Amino acid sequence: MELPFAESYKIKMVETIKKSTREEREKWIKEANYNLFSLKSNQVFIDLLTDSGTGAMSDKQWSAMMLGDESYAGASSYYNLKSTIKDLLGFDYFLPTHQGRAAENVLFSATIKEGDIIPGNSHFDTTKGHIEFRKAKAVDCTIDEAFDTEIDHPFKGNIDPVKLENTIKEYTPEKIPFIVLTVTCNTSGGQPVSIENMRDIRNIADKYNIPVYYDSARFAENAYFIKLREKGYENKTIKEIVKEMYSYADGMTMSSKKDAIVNMGGFIALKSEETFKKATVFNIVFEGFITYGGMSGRDMNALAQGLDEGTEFDYLDTRIKQVAYLGQRLTDFGISVQKPFGGHAIFVEAKKFLPHVPKEQYIAQTLAVELYLEAGIRGVEIGTLLADRDPETRENRYPALELLRLAIPRRVYTNNHMDVIAVALKNVFDRRDGIRTGFNILEEAPIMRHFTVKLEKA
Ligand code: F0G
Repeated sequence: MELPFAESYKIKMVETIKKSTREEREKWIKEANYNLFSLKSNQVFIDLLTDSGTGAMSDKQWSAMMLGDESYAGASSYYNLKSTIKDLLGFDYFLPTHQGRAAENVLFSATIKEGDIIPGNSHFDTTKGHIEFRKAKAVDCTIDEAFDTEIDHPFKGNIDPVKLENTIKEYTPEKIPFIVLTVTCNTSGGQPVSIENMRDIRNIADKYNIPVYYDSARFAENAYFIKLREKGYENKTIKEIVKEMYSYADGMTMSSKKDAIVNMGGFIALKSEETFKKATVFNIVFEGFITYGGMSGRDMNALAQGLDEGTEFDYLDTRIKQVAYLGQRLTDFGISVQKPFGGHAIFVEAKKFLPHVPKEQYIAQTLAVELYLEAGIRGVEIGTLLADRDPETRENRYPALELLRLAIPRRVYTNNHMDVIAVALKNVFDRRDGIRTGFNILEEAPIMRHFTVKLEKA
């Protein structure tokens, strides 16, 4: 008999989580103005708000923290991280930052001008926020297949080379400071980009002399999918694939809170000394001196260790199989989710789940609130609230997909938790015909409103 699958780790420390009653949850979510970001964490039983900074560090990461060097300049922890980045990713230049959006802030300050165009694959909201904040424009060149959740395409994060080249021709290369490739692509469902696509993008970029930067939060999960799905890569190690991925990039921004399995941190890595020098100025202004940039020495040490562990096959296999386990249970219940299953999360198709809720009343948010009420599970809306308003017309932008994202923290929950999530969502599914209204906005911020928006029942 073939042995069943089991996690590639055992548990050394635990944290208690509490169940609650439906009455309690009704009160709490109302007090939170139906915004799940406003709940207290002890009002949540299973927290799937994000896989960002919510992972469990390993014994080796915790020990690395004890060896952190807290010197302001020239700390050994900085050099340790620098050499890990060079060995793993191949970049000569790097700047630590306190998280991913800080890396965007620094790099974009050095590269983007008003009126610029940044083509990419469904830019993440902070990326788009930092582009629009500089009065530049993000142009989405993702392949069309990504917007149909039922199409089983192996690399739905891919950029369409034709759309990309047309964008470059339409706006002219002078207006395009760089192309951004998000690996895996969070916004389109944690979907990977193929090596072949990375090569195509590199060739187009070279033709027009435009740099390519990877938004790398989940780069290791992307490499795992390449190993499993792309011909010629089945026998390569994750680390070999990662090396090849970055051979096609000029630089990267990293949110280390995801695939580097730390609770806080980020960095920029670059091939160009000139861009590094420009970015350095902004790093010192916004983040800190170049050898710590918003991170403590102990955190840089844990990050270096996390980068190494996060690019091991057995770890990634455990992680991504758990996400797929949840995806399969939901599929077996007849619930429509993004396929193939994403690396870090399962994305539930809210329009199909709640067909009676009008799009003006925030369908995916309505589903997120229902799941919380059902079992104290906190997911997150990836829909109209997240898409913000058009910066010019101030009209709501209605994205092609209204999704409820169930992001799975790394090395945190067991498959018993996945079972609870699946059954809770099935219970909501069974009573979906009774859910006909959503929410109206009471108060919202001008940009990235989903974090603080206040809602009332429609
Ligand atoms: N890029 C991608 C693809 C991301 O998913 C995120 C964060 C960032 C950049 C920004 O990094 O949070 O460290 O500043 N994503 C989190 C999420 C917030 O829940 O998906 P950060």
